[in-house]
Amino acid sequence: MSDHPFDVLAARALRVGAYLVRADDQGRLYDGIGLKPEHWRRAQTLLADAPEPWQKLLTSDPGDDRIILPNGGHILRLSSNRRGRHEHTILAVIEPCVCSKPLGQVLSESTEADSGCTNVTTPGQCNGCAAACLSDPITVECLLRCWYEDLFKLGRQESELTKLSQQLAETYEELNLLYRLGQELTVSGDPRCFVQSLCQDLLEVMSFRWVAVKLFDLPELSEQLAGMFVCEGTTQKTINEAEQAVEALAQMPQVHKPAVVLDIASQWGHLLPALGNSLLAYPLYKGETMYGLIVAIDKDPEAGDISSVDLKLVGSTASQLRIFLDNVTLYDQMHLMFLGTLEALTAAVDAKDRYTCGHSQRVALLSRQLAEALGLPPDRVERIHIAGLMHDVGKIGVPESVLCKAGKLTKEEYEIIKGHPEIGANIVKDIPHFDDIIPGVLYHHERYDGKGYPHGLAGEDIPMMGRLLALADSFDAMSSTRTYRAALPRERVLEEIQACAGSQFDPDLTPHFLSLDFSEYDGQVANHKAGDPGAQGVAA
Ligand SMILES: [Fe+2]
Repeated sequence: MSDHPFDVLAARALRVGAYLVRADDQGRLYDGIGLKPEHWRRAQTLLADAPEPWQKLLTSDPGDDRIILPNGGHILRLSSNRRGRHEHTILAVIEPCVCSKPLGQVLSESTEADSGCTNVTTPGQCNGCAAACLSDPITVECLLRCWYEDLFKLGRQESELTKLSQQLAETYEELNLLYRLGQELTVSGDPRCFVQSLCQDLLEVMSFRWVAVKLFDLPELSEQLAGMFVCEGTTQKTINEAEQAVEALAQMPQVHKPAVVLDIASQWGHLLPALGNSLLAYPLYKGETMYGLIVAIDKDPEAGDISSVDLKLVGSTASQLRIFLDNVTLYDQMHLMFLGTLEALTAAVDAKDRYTCGHSQRVALLSRQLAEALGLPPDRVERIHIAGLMHDVGKIGVPESVLCKAGKLTKEEYEIIKGHPEIGANIVKDIPHFDDIIPGVLYHHERYDGKGYPHGLAGEDIPMMGRLLALADSFDAMSSTRTYRAALPRERVLEEIQACAGSQFDPDLTPHFLSLDFSEYDGQVANHKAGDPGAQGVAA
């Protein structure tokens, strides 16, 4: 404000010093508007030299609102404004004129067009110098009033512009945050990664020390979400301590609606373990049930107190998080239903032969475990699990008289059995989004040495899914009693698989399979036995 528009215009136009000062309704000077220190001192000196108390201008009649200084300068009352409960008066303190520049020229340059003042001398009519003009108080007063009004309007517009810019910046931050969350919002990814990103995004736009999300262990949430705790930022606590602190916070009824605490120690200190200095808590609801909490702790004091802007940002984020959590829960329910349907279908196929009860589920389990042991990505592991479930679906087209025949199969019967991979592939190919399952269904009876069926592929010409399923399928087949032989004990099965590495099985995959932990498999075997006591053929 050192180059205050009024000062600049007044000094340039009148060639006089014109200083604006504010006085309060108690008759005290308290501000120089846009004045440099030396100008402020000069204004005070002129006011002190006034032949009568300048305070009289605060209460004088409209027609008596100027004081002529001994040196020819003026003190004018420009306006009185009310700010809050207090009134303040703007005074113009004017030095005497020291040059002879015509006032008419000045008016044509800067004020005539938009001042709206009818008392101003029009261009060309004033042939005197500025000193002469100063002797005309109506002109000077009118000029200054016009300038002051412009100045007042300008100040108000600047204030509105600043406010608008602030609102624009806040809206941008909110939109940017929502955009980023939208980009990361995919239910098929790891939900923990999304929640972590959400906390990091909040940390970036708000100046808090740490941000956490706690989801309660409730049936409203899917298994992978229930009980989740994510914490980003610098907590100066272990993750367990931070989680316990947030859990304690969540028990407080005060956070069952959005809450801001600027001083935890004095407001809630006796109720909480040492969380931090300030906090913003935002609950997550599904219907009437609160199932989680977003909490931001310790706002940087340099960034000011926790504000309504912070609350709005967290509120918008909470809305996105609620949508995400609902979608993940729904997706998980759909997925479980989908897998349940597949399991029912394959169980129906397995049920054609009581000796293969639970076979597809066990092959799916072993295939998934082998895929995980190989370090395959989760989505690939999931597809291999589904392929394991579906691998023998083609047996639905094999007559039970052949499938369940006790004793040795004839050559023709064996050829019928050998058709089940292609029957299965034909079934699967018509299921949308199952293209990547077909290799597992079609090639799980191929052998690494090329002596398998249906196509006699060898080595790595056999798709990996087929090579992988072959190990799981053979392990379960050898571990089960079949119509033509008894189940083999575990050691014999493992020896056989080891012996067939490079001939029947992929020699690179075999060691990974042999090192699997079969305890879950044995658990499934026990379950299947319990479900069908007649199927006692699986070797434990
Ligand atoms: Fe098969």
